[in-house]
Amino acid sequence: MKRKIIAYNFVLTEVLVPLKNEYDVEFFEKINPKTDPAFLDALKDVEGIIGLSLPVDAELLDCAPNLKIVSNNSTGYNNLSLDEMTKRGVMGTNTPGVLEGTTADAIFGILLAAARRIPEMDRFVKTGSWKHYLTTEQFAVDVHHKTLGIIGMGKIGSEIAKRGHLGFDMNILYHNRSRNMEAEEKYHAEYCDFDTLLKKSDFVVLMTPLTPETENLIGEREFKLMKNSAIFVNGSRGRTVDEAALIEALKNNEIYGAALDVYQIEPIKMDNPLLQFPNVVTTPHLGSATFETEEKMAKLAVENLLAGLNGKRPKNLVNPNVLGVL
Ligand code: DGY
Repeated sequence: MKRKIIAYNFVLTEVLVPLKNEYDVEFFEKINPKTDPAFLDALKDVEGIIGLSLPVDAELLDCAPNLKIVSNNSTGYNNLSLDEMTKRGVMGTNTPGVLEGTTADAIFGILLAAARRIPEMDRFVKTGSWKHYLTTEQFAVDVHHKTLGIIGMGKIGSEIAKRGHLGFDMNILYHNRSRNMEAEEKYHAEYCDFDTLLKKSDFVVLMTPLTPETENLIGEREFKLMKNSAIFVNGSRGRTVDEAALIEALKNNEIYGAALDVYQIEPIKMDNPLLQFPNVVTTPHLGSATFETEEKMAKLAVENLLAGLNGKRPKNLVNPNVLGVL
């Protein structure tokens, strides 16, 4: 009997085709895993899971006694309950090192879009509202030479700093768990405490991973500390921001606008008030979604999966303590 793999929300399925000789690959997409009987049945003898954003918790793990590895097709791995996985000897992996530039392009893109009101002006043209030269009603704000504050100066944060410093002559501030000396040297990034960054930045860009410490990191207090002219950009995870507080801050003009690629609930519900603000740019969690990068991520995720299935240490193991349990 072939060993079973579940592919969950895995878009570039052609990358998995070569595995089909040796493994029984079952595909699932857009399901609520806990209520899909076929999914629950597949878990009984699955050895490897590969895909995006599957919540892997104790309940799921209890249904998958033969599971060896969950290979996330993303850098973020907040969907994995690592303690539960480690206890049961299940490895978890991610795909760092291949998507940083692509994600930084996207996040810098939505920052520019919000500052220069590009989606709003696109609608202005397409709805036939452009009947005269622009008035102050359509004016926007500059990006170049402004202060860019980055919370979470990992690899993607550094790439955003690079774009801001080298491309737009921006003054870079950052806050991070540890100092990033490379970004300080190359992009003149200045380390500062959290509140100072919020107070001084024209653009506050959130790039932290979602952890218990960063859940709701930005809320009412933080929006009040920001400049009224600030643009808030979220490229991390939706749950790092208190969305109700963001909505209040926008209603009360406590900030100038926002650019969001991630949300508390994804896909976002159409009745979410964030969709009503013309000064909020919304994109559908597209940070890494280019053909080139998604292919690299998919190949890396498969490489990690196969290593785990074959008893080797995967390149991007995120719970190395598991090796002591195996
Ligand atoms: C990542 O890699 O974490 C991206 O946000 C896609 O989920």
